[in-house]
Amino acid sequence: MNILVIGGAGYIGSVTTELLIKKKHRVIVLDDLSTGCNFLVHPKTIFYNGSMLDKEILEKIFTKHKIDLVYHYAAKTIVAESVQKPITYFSVNIGGLANVLETMVAHKVRKIIFASSAAVYGKSKTFPINEETKKEPCNPYGASKLYCEQLIIDAGIAHKINYVIFRFFNVAGSSISGKYGMAKKKPTLLIPSLNDCLIKKKEITIYGNDYQTKDGTCLRDYIHVQDLAQATICGINFLKKNKSAIFNLGSNKGYTVLDVVKMAKKNIDPTLKFHFAKRRNGDPDKLLTNTKKAWKILKWKPKYDLKKMIISDYKFRKKYGKFFK
Ligand SMILES: NC(=O)c1ccc[n+]([C@@H]2O[C@H](COP(=O)([O-])OP(=O)(O)OC[C@H]3O[C@@H](n4cnc5c(N)ncnc54)[C@H](O)[C@@H]3O)[C@@H](O)[C@H]2O)c1
Repeated sequence: MNILVIGGAGYIGSVTTELLIKKKHRVIVLDDLSTGCNFLVHPKTIFYNGSMLDKEILEKIFTKHKIDLVYHYAAKTIVAESVQKPITYFSVNIGGLANVLETMVAHKVRKIIFASSAAVYGKSKTFPINEETKKEPCNPYGASKLYCEQLIIDAGIAHKINYVIFRFFNVAGSSISGKYGMAKKKPTLLIPSLNDCLIKKKEITIYGNDYQTKDGTCLRDYIHVQDLAQATICGINFLKKNKSAIFNLGSNKGYTVLDVVKMAKKNIDPTLKFHFAKRRNGDPDKLLTNTKKAWKILKWKPKYDLKKMIISDYKFRKKYGKFFK
């Protein structure tokens, strides 16, 4: 297939692109490199350096290449920044998607795979979370993703577009080839932050030790980025049946922050030190998904464990750190 990956120079987009190319698809990447990196652009793709906010470049791509399917992975993704800049988050995330859908309709492209987030559930008290759990986003990032989902559903009905919406939980690790991964100089997520501390021999700060969990630190559901890429590729076969659906993607296993830190100590550096600081605003005690719908319908199950996520991210950060943004 001719597949357009929007956000293909980013973390998840680049890992997915590598797998799509391995499966012999022809991949066109559109990315404005705002958070993505040049070195994550796969050499076998046709790369357009531009923004989904620019309708002309979208028109050019859809006219030149006979696009069969769109992977939409481009977004502004930092929760804390979304609280400071809600207008930017809504205009880029929702406005960008609206442009993409509009161009798809004009060119009769009727298949999209969209990266949504567990952030749509907000501080859900349900444990574990399934696709029907109430959506109560508690920051502009999560709210923008929920609006995007609604836009895709409504456009799907009006214009006969089939979609797969994936709600990713905590994604971690680098691709199995070791060439693609999370390339942020100042990471905000736990596993890359932890590895950044390990490489720089710094102490890691754990925010809060009074949560309602076995050791008082937050509990999350981590999924290896390679498993996630594999699941999203299963989405292609699902779309071929002209169906649409929403799936949670996680591993159905919960780890606390201390579990993650202890695993890094055991497998990378036993001298790693940590200290506790007060809770951050907005962190729920526990987030755990129920991924049974994806297991059953997409015939997919995650293969890689937390240890693999930590070690592969560590190796990637060590090897390519100088190219990070
Ligand atoms: N990483 C996670 O744990 C996680 C969890 C849940 C959901 N998601 C979602 O997955 C998707 C990918 O996230 P990621 O972690 O790979 O982030 P990322 O920042 O690494 O990738 C996003 C890519 O989109 C590009 N981009 C941003 N705005 C653009 C625009 N206007 N036009 C073209 N390109 C643009 C960036 O340059 C970047 O390459 C996002 O939609 C994100 O919301 C990620």
